[in-house]
Amino acid sequence: MDLYYGLLVAFSGDIISFTMLRYLDKFRKQAFFIPGEDINLRPVRRSELPAIRRWLKDKELVRLAFGVEAEGKVLDKIAHDYYHDVVSGLKFVLGIEDKKGKLAGFIRYTLREDGSVARIGIMIGEKQNWNKGMGTQGMRLLLKYLFDIIGIEKIELDTADFNQRAQRCFEKVGFKRTGEFSDVDFLQGSFSHRIYMHLTRDDYRAENAEPDNTQAK
Ligand SMILES: CC(C)(COP(=O)(O)OP(=O)(O)OC[C@H]1O[C@@H](n2cnc3c(N)ncnc32)[C@H](O)[C@@H]1OP(=O)(O)O)[C@@H](O)C(=O)NCCC(=O)NCCS
Repeated sequence: MDLYYGLLVAFSGDIISFTMLRYLDKFRKQAFFIPGEDINLRPVRRSELPAIRRWLKDKELVRLAFGVEAEGKVLDKIAHDYYHDVVSGLKFVLGIEDKKGKLAGFIRYTLREDGSVARIGIMIGEKQNWNKGMGTQGMRLLLKYLFDIIGIEKIELDTADFNQRAQRCFEKVGFKRTGEFSDVDFLQGSFSHRIYMHLTRDDYRAENAEPDNTQAK
């Protein structure tokens, strides 16, 4: 069951038939596709969910993404809980595909109740793809989607203080630091130091405004 099916089934029980789900799936695939230069954003396919699960069980990826040193059962629990949120639709997930159509990573977002603020996270799962600009491009496409299509007013995120690559990636697309916070990881009993960042729609639009050529002499 993928994210969209999860959502539908969660809200509709048995009412929606399998045929209908397939129809909606077809519609969804046509409706949601955000093309970029080297990557595209699109829904995650059911057949790709094992890749996401594999990434969530990778010690290094989990350390970078969540700021915790986890292994064994703790790592399994993180993977299980996160994966469950993805499949059940508690986290919205957009796949990042390379130009060959292969899933390279994903972006997830959750919306605050009134729909004005989004909280986001990103993971390029295949490490050979790091530092090639995929994360930055993925973030740019996501910002366009959330600000211009969904109509979000502010996007927030946080990252581990040692995750310099992620911070650089977020700063490049306009995020500004808003604070720092030391958090206790109850699973592990360890501390992690988080950097909080945000980007408002006004700042995004000011930064990405098209030049006004109508006043040209
Ligand atoms: C963080 C992540 C999304 C960034 O995506 P990416 O495609 O690897 O990054 P990009 O190539 O777009 O940009 C990375 C930037 O950081 C810079 N960078 C890389 N390592 C760095 C370091 N140790 N210190 C400072 N800057 C660094 C790169 O030079 C590049 O900046 P530049 O374009 O000005 O040269 C990706 O690496 C990833 O998913 N990592 C694992 C999970 C993770 O950390 N998720 C984020 C959780 S908040």
